[in-house]
Amino acid sequence: MLSRRQAITRGASLIAALTGSASGFSDAEAGPNNIAAPGPGRRIPYGTCVPWGPLEKDPDFRGLLKTHCQQLTPEGGLIWIDLRPTRDQFNFDFPDAVLAFAEANGITMRGHTLAWYGGMPTWTKEISSAAEAERELATHIERVVARYRGKIKTWHVVNEPIDEVKGKAAGLRPSIWLQYLGDRYIDTAFRLAHQVDPSAELLLNEYNIESTDQSSAPRRQALLTLVRELLARGVPVHGVGLQGHIPGKYQIDGDGLHNFVSEIRSLGLSVHVTELDVIDDDLPGPPSVRDAIVASRAYDFLDAIFAAERPSAVITWGITDRYTWVPTWHKRRDGLINRPLPFDEYYRPKPMWSVVDYFCQKTGLAASR
Ligand code: GLA
Repeated sequence: MLSRRQAITRGASLIAALTGSASGFSDAEAGPNNIAAPGPGRRIPYGTCVPWGPLEKDPDFRGLLKTHCQQLTPEGGLIWIDLRPTRDQFNFDFPDAVLAFAEANGITMRGHTLAWYGGMPTWTKEISSAAEAERELATHIERVVARYRGKIKTWHVVNEPIDEVKGKAAGLRPSIWLQYLGDRYIDTAFRLAHQVDPSAELLLNEYNIESTDQSSAPRRQALLTLVRELLARGVPVHGVGLQGHIPGKYQIDGDGLHNFVSEIRSLGLSVHVTELDVIDDDLPGPPSVRDAIVASRAYDFLDAIFAAERPSAVITWGITDRYTWVPTWHKRRDGLINRPLPFDEYYRPKPMWSVVDYFCQKTGLAASR
């Protein structure tokens, strides 16, 4: 058994070795597409979220997706604000375009998301009673899950249910759903989704549970408590999505994350990495230094998870630094572009790609713990 320090040192040298081999990376090494489940000895599916514009207009971007991805999540598209500009209108053009591209290329599409506090169209502010809230949630889930029944095999049913930590404990995050339906909105969303597509894998999806920032540990605890309560009430929750928008300035809390994933596993639930990137606005400027830190955070994150459980998928929130949400909220002050993702803005693999690819190829649990 290695100590934590030895494990980190070993991780760092592995990254150096991986970084050195990055230039020799070839498409053939990316592995085959269309792998549904990571059984023992199988490559774990890798994927990314996809923005609509680049998917339509950028052939090199499409090439990157075809070469490397086995799963794709529309970046938006299935969130309420995109799907339902008005109460009665459903606009499926974007998710349908992603699905068409995915199906043409032997890729699976993931569903993100059915109930979230964010990304809500303004008309939902008119909702003013529990009955109305329940009716809208039910209409939404029935219509959207039914449209993609058998095609979207994994849904991030409830996104970001845990509140930002105020004080020591974390509760549920305020939303229109919590306001009118109370904490059982989560039960309702899962039960409805399961009724409409009993074969779909249904996840709770959450961020900021992995870092040494002081809010992560109480958020982990709150998420675990929520999962246990849902299971005790017989709610069909099948897995947990760890978003992994890693704040680059903090180290990963490897032990805390590993213990959390072990607990989730012992409850019989799957674990997915759903939105991995490393937020780099506070990291040093030089790209080579920054890329090494970004890769190292991704390594520590994946290492802690893999030591407890092989996740069902590793999805990054974007694949190339050319298209990323990060500068929208975390623009660098030195004018350099953000580099949070596995491929650079010219679609060249970075050390983070070597890390992600290394873990996706792993056939057993990590050995460093
Ligand atoms: C969260 C949400 C995503 C997306 C990203 C950042 O993780 O789940 O839908 O908004 O933030 O863009």
